[in-house]
This record gives sequence, C-alpha cells and structure tokens, in this order.
Amino acid sequence: MREWKQRVAVITGGGSGIGEALAHACAQRGMRVAVADVEAEAANRVAEAIRATGGEALAAGVDVRDREAVGAFATQVEETFGGCHLLCNNAGVLVTRPLLEIEAKDWEWCLSVNLWGAIHSVSAFLPGMLQSGQRAMSSTPPQ
Ligand SMILES: NC(=O)c1ccc[n+]([C@@H]2O[C@H](COP(=O)([O-])OP(=O)(O)OC[C@H]3O[C@@H](n4cnc5c(N)ncnc54)[C@H](O)[C@@H]3O)[C@@H](O)[C@H]2O)c1
Repeated sequence: MREWKQRVAVITGGGSGIGEALAHACAQRGMRVAVADVEAEAANRVAEAIRATGGEALAAGVDVRDREAVGAFATQVEETFGGCHLLCNNAGVLVTRPLLEIEAKDWEWCLSVNLWGAIHSVSAFLPGMLQSGQRAMSSTPPQ
C-alpha cells in the first residue's frame, strides 16, 4: 500500500510483544519506525532487526511515565525522521494478582504507565503531527 511508504511510525513499548510485531509490520510496509521502550536493549534489538532487513529504524530507551523523556524522544524523532504519521501508544503494564491483593502502589504504577504514558505521548507528538499539515495515517491496520 503506497500510503504507508516512507511514513513514520512511532511505537512505545516496541521492544517486545505486540509493539515489536507492530514495528516489524510497519517496517515491512516501507515505514520508517521509531521504537521506544523502557528496556533500551529491547528497543535496540528491534530497531537493529529492522535495519538488518533494509528498513529504517531508530531506537530509544524511554519510560513513558517520564514526560520530559517522552518529549525528548519526540524531538529525536522529528530531527531524525521529520515527524510522525502513526503514533502507537502501545506501552502498557498489567498486574495479574487477585483484586484484593493489589496495593495502591500497583494501581499507581498501572495508571502512570497505561494512562499517563499515553497522555505524555499524545501531548509530545500530536502538536507536531497537526503542525506538519501532513495527513496522518488512518486507523485501519496494515493489510
Ligand atoms: N497481550 C494481550 O492480550 C493484551 C490485551 C489487552 C491489552 N494489551 C495491551 O497491549 C499492549 C502490549 O501488550 P503486550 O502483550 O505486547 O505486552 P508486553 O508486556 O509483551 O509488552 C509491553 C512493552 O511495553 C514496555 N513497557 C512497559 N512499561 C513501559 C514504560 N513505562 N515505558 C515504556 N515502555 C514500557 C515493556 O518493556 C514491553 O516491551 C499493552 O499496553 C497491554 O496492556 C495486551
């Protein structure tokens, strides 16, 4: 699909699982991919795998709970790839213990990653996406 080629995908939590699969799916469709993960080595591994198959990718160790770190990542993506067309707020965590065993610090951790992480990413990337005047990607997943 021509629409995907040379567009830029940003994937938080892209170092493993669904995020890693998303990163490869985007790269396979010709997108340039920015992979962020709190596990910097995992992000690097995914970006290296994409580059090894001829794709373009950058990696960053980013904790999405850290607003300034996410902002710095957005600047890095802008400087390297010129912007973002597809923002995947994929980074997330899960506490699997029974409800009554979950402590306040567990809720705080979940909300800081799953809620505040997404807020930080949207706040960091959306203004540039709008200012670029370029069309963002549709929500239809790659075929
Ligand atoms: N797998 C499922 O069945 C399922 C179901 C519903 C929702 N989800 C959500 O989909 C997303 C991906 O799920 P997954 O199964 O691939 O999970 P996963 O645990 O395999 O991958 C999540 C990635 O996010 C990274 N991450 C965690 N905290 C982070 C932080 N603070 N900053 C940056 N990166 C961080 C992890 O290092 C990991 O690489 C998550 O948000 C998850 O909650 C998954």
